[in-house]
Amino acid sequence: MDVKSLDRHEPKTVENILIISEDSGLLKQVNFGQAQVKRCLIADAHVDSETYDVVLKKKNLDYTSLLKTITADKIDCILFMPSSQNIESSSYEKIEEHLKWEVQKTHQWIRFLIDRLIEKEVRVVFLCCEQKNKIDIFQKILSKYFSFLRAECPEFRISTIRIDRLNKKVLDQVYLEINDENTEPEVQIDTHKRLVPRLTSQPLEPSLVSLNTSGCMVITGGFGGIGLTVLSWFIEKGCSEFIVMGRKLAASTLKHSSLDGPTTIESFIRRQKDNGTTIHYIQGDIQQSHQVERTFEAVRKKLKKSIIRVFHLAGITTESIPLNKMSEDILTRVVRPKLYGAHVLHKITNKDPLGYFCLFSSISSVEGMQGAGLSAYAAANASIDALAELRQQQNKPVQLIHWTDWSGEGMAIEYDHKAFFDAVGLYMVNPAPWPLLFRPGGPKKSRWWYTNVHEAFWQKACSRPTPGPADESYSFSPRIHQ
Ligand SMILES: NC(=O)c1ccc[n+]([C@@H]2O[C@H](COP(=O)([O-])OP(=O)(O)OC[C@H]3O[C@@H](n4cnc5c(N)ncnc54)[C@H](OP(=O)(O)O)[C@@H]3O)[C@@H](O)[C@H]2O)c1
Repeated sequence: MDVKSLDRHEPKTVENILIISEDSGLLKQVNFGQAQVKRCLIADAHVDSETYDVVLKKKNLDYTSLLKTITADKIDCILFMPSSQNIESSSYEKIEEHLKWEVQKTHQWIRFLIDRLIEKEVRVVFLCCEQKNKIDIFQKILSKYFSFLRAECPEFRISTIRIDRLNKKVLDQVYLEINDENTEPEVQIDTHKRLVPRLTSQPLEPSLVSLNTSGCMVITGGFGGIGLTVLSWFIEKGCSEFIVMGRKLAASTLKHSSLDGPTTIESFIRRQKDNGTTIHYIQGDIQQSHQVERTFEAVRKKLKKSIIRVFHLAGITTESIPLNKMSEDILTRVVRPKLYGAHVLHKITNKDPLGYFCLFSSISSVEGMQGAGLSAYAAANASIDALAELRQQQNKPVQLIHWTDWSGEGMAIEYDHKAFFDAVGLYMVNPAPWPLLFRPGGPKKSRWWYTNVHEAFWQKACSRPTPGPADESYSFSPRIHQ
């Protein structure tokens, strides 16, 4: 993120603000000296309605009851605040409960905006309050989902503002931000600085670190389109023990351009065994976290080598679905394998001597790349982006790669994401150079912990209302030349 000074031009005044939250403590603290503030509390118990202008019952979550307040009080800006959750200290059951509730709350809010508020010229802000050095994975997921409104319903002048506390100085800055006609799509405000995301380009250099082939590698989605390309590459380089996770039965047929012809997973594994490579296949759903943990520990006992490398590729996507056709069910279904998969891997390999932990994310979750229709998939990828940030903060090895679509194999071909990427101005990448990106080592050792890989049609990409470049030449990092 870039650092900018807090000096801003004189704003056009927002006069009436509505804040929606289920955190009564936060709600009470938010005050903008210059503006009228109305407070909407989402609550399940009986609350003192004197303190709040509107109380929404958690049980029926009837956002339409807000319409009267929004109209009568001439609300010109709405701040929607998600609640926070520390995923690392939560049980899987709590995570699931929180996921379901936050998805329901946010999804219904977005539907209400689209169905009832689109003509009211209200500015809508997703206000995330994340304490410093505490990554809130859910806020990242939901704000990414929310950010697709910007592409699909520009009428709302949507933005995301991230803050780390609610003191007067920060709130004054938030107030300036919501008054700024030219505000950035995403802004982070700390007490002394304002940060905006920027893409910078870097030349693609081969990794200087030679591949350590000695340990065992875990790869989720290893029998998928890209997964098998990655798995085959490591086998070819001499790695000889793998744990692969996927849902397909071992008797299922694999089809891949690297294979001579269709073969089953079990015969692929047998053939590798004959060549001296052991593949332990964990067949199951990675979102069944308890089960995955148990099976993983059973397999661990059979390993000949320590686990030194993790690749998380398991995930699903959708065809393009506009927000007004999205459902809570689709959103949670797409988020779960990425979210739980990353979380489970983070947890079960905590004590392993890892040199590498790689998360395959998508360009659709990069700020400014929100085209239409991939909101659920982008939100799912935001969950692993957040986990990468968390690992980076904890000084654990991590590399996050935001890929544009791969040509040849994989879900992008299957779900025809080409239209989405054409609209954004990006090309599919040829997968051949991907190993050049491989950067073992912890974040301290590598500036490559966060990488975007695109090939762009620059004029088109630049013409979009994306966050501008940090340097003169608008480019992404790193460019792969086909
Ligand atoms: N293809 C692209 O252009 C592209 C671009 C950007 C990012 N990515 C990312 O790269 C990764 C691999 O993509 P791909 O194109 O290879 O997709 P793919 O061919 O659809 O493979 C996805 C893999 O994930 C596994 N999987 C899905 N849900 C699972 C679950 N709940 N539990 C366990 N395994 C599960 C699948 O296993 P089963 O089939 O056995 O269920 C499959 O092996 C994905 O995370 C994707 O988001 C891909």
